[in-house]
Amino acid sequence: MKHLISLHDLTTEEIHGILKLAIKLKDENKKGIEHHLLKGKTLGMIFTKSSTRTRVSFEVGMYQLGGYPLFLSSNDIQLGRGETIYDTANVLSRFLDGIMIRTFAHSDVTDLAKYGTIPIINGLTDLLHPCQILADLQTTYDHKGKLEGLKMAYIGDGNNIANSLLYGCTKVGMDIAIGSPKTHMCDAEVVENAKEDAKKTGSSILLTEDPVEAIKDADVVYTDTWCSMGQEAEKAERIKIFKDYTVNKELFGHAKDDAIFMHCLPAYRGFEVTEDVIDGPNSVIFDEAENRLHAQKAVMVSVMGDK
Ligand code: CP
Ligand code: NVA
Repeated sequence: MKHLISLHDLTTEEIHGILKLAIKLKDENKKGIEHHLLKGKTLGMIFTKSSTRTRVSFEVGMYQLGGYPLFLSSNDIQLGRGETIYDTANVLSRFLDGIMIRTFAHSDVTDLAKYGTIPIINGLTDLLHPCQILADLQTTYDHKGKLEGLKMAYIGDGNNIANSLLYGCTKVGMDIAIGSPKTHMCDAEVVENAKEDAKKTGSSILLTEDPVEAIKDADVVYTDTWCSMGQEAEKAERIKIFKDYTVNKELFGHAKDDAIFMHCLPAYRGFEVTEDVIDGPNSVIFDEAENRLHAQKAVMVSVMGDK
């Protein structure tokens, strides 16, 4: 594994390998066992969008692995003033051992990988958020003891989280149902690619406008904000479009009794989810947030560790 740009690029075995390592690193971390697997290595973290979890978990994770993280806000580096991805990739490749980037255009991440010579990790684009979904799979495994054969239901905007869930779930043999308005369904190319993966692992994909049909008998229920970063101007319109997609107690009641509730966060209570669900007994949102640390440490070791 050279980069982590899309879960679609990974084999099922590579995903299981990352999850296995993440579980091991989490266990060692809880026991206070140090693991300086990236001693002396440096990770540049480019952010052109805001972040709490991604920034802190990568920064702490790199520290725990014995390496050094550099926070590079696009407000401060020349990329934000128009320096090209080509020059940035070439220059940073001379200084760093890896780059994590959070940005708008997915092509900026693939271009960094194309022009640079060091591993690139996608920390969220408008299209995908693979690191989040690895943490989500780890959290599902922590709570359910397995992945294959479970049903994931995603309700709401067919955004970067929904796209990456399609990739992640189909790679590990989980069934996935997306309940979104037709106008805001997942990316068409992602759906086609995920269908190919689903054929190989035997999982199923359901795309429906009906949130009840999507959530029925789900083991995991997932939602995300209706207004992603960069869509702020559409907020009022989006609130109208998604008004029938709130995960409330009634809708959640159509999932299995022991279903867990997930949200990548940040959450907007009263919009995509009600308080009684996100703060209720089935919610695992903070386990999910914690696993960002462990899953991403496993990713960094996989792409930046000595082979
Ligand atoms: N879930 C997630 O990526 O959170 P941040 O935007 O805070 O990094
Ligand atoms: N869909 C959200 C995810 C935030 C972690 C966004 O892109 O803003």
